[in-house]
Amino acid sequence: MSAIVMDGNALRDEVVAGLAEQIEALGSPEVCLATVLVGDDGPSQRYVNSKHKKAAEAGMVSRHHGLGADATQSEVEAIVRELAEDPSVHGILVQLPLPDGLDPEPVLDLVPAEKDVDGLTERSMGRLVRNRPGLVSCTPLGVMRLLEKYDVPTSGKRAVVIGRSTLVGLPLSLLLNRKGADATVTMAHSRTADMAGVVSEADIVIGAAGQARMITADMVKPGAAVIDVGVSRTEAGIVGDVDYEPVAEVAGWITPMPGGTGPMTIACLLENTLTAARLQGVIPAP
Ligand code: GUN
Repeated sequence: MSAIVMDGNALRDEVVAGLAEQIEALGSPEVCLATVLVGDDGPSQRYVNSKHKKAAEAGMVSRHHGLGADATQSEVEAIVRELAEDPSVHGILVQLPLPDGLDPEPVLDLVPAEKDVDGLTERSMGRLVRNRPGLVSCTPLGVMRLLEKYDVPTSGKRAVVIGRSTLVGLPLSLLLNRKGADATVTMAHSRTADMAGVVSEADIVIGAAGQARMITADMVKPGAAVIDVGVSRTEAGIVGDVDYEPVAEVAGWITPMPGGTGPMTIACLLENTLTAARLQGVIPAP
């Protein structure tokens, strides 16, 4: 068997084009995304740059605030406070992780829920848990969009999410479990006993652990959908959680790395920015 490759770049382009059309049809209001990046990490800089490039393609404006690796906690907080109060900014994204020594929690606490395009604040996460409308973390949303686009059945299926981060694993488990998706979800992590056994029972496998190529072909149920969200920096470059070539021989669907979930994170960030502008009354409700 050779898996269907889930093309995140193509779906991102479709989503971005749809956003551009919507914004134009609304008379091109200024919808603004602001990003904050602390430090000089190369991959994070490239990732933030592509967020700005795609925002422009969607017809949005964007602003970037870069701080040196030696920035203090209060300097970072001051910028986020300023963006929170600025009515011309509709979405705020603080690129994570922050450099060692900086605590992300008080920084995220300063982001108002209606500008929280990353879905990471307590209010956004609380709304997700309580199944109320709100902004949801972009990578999990992007994974759900890929599953829908490729008609991967979720209802009544077994899903395993490997990794329990607040950015990906936890919200994605909730989305897969929600009414409408209706998967039976197992949350696996570094302390899970018999990881191979747990994975082998799953119809949908999500690698979000950041453990290079930990999901191997012998673990995967034939025909399963295998989604790679992991990012590990190795001597061979950036690799995902999935041992791609051999797993593609067994799986029914697979996301490439790069070109799978990464582009969809950006697409969903821009969708969230439009939703945030709507929540702030900049554009009318649909
Ligand atoms: N770092 C890697 N992915 C993300 C993301 O989706 N949001 C933020 N804020 N930081 C990230």
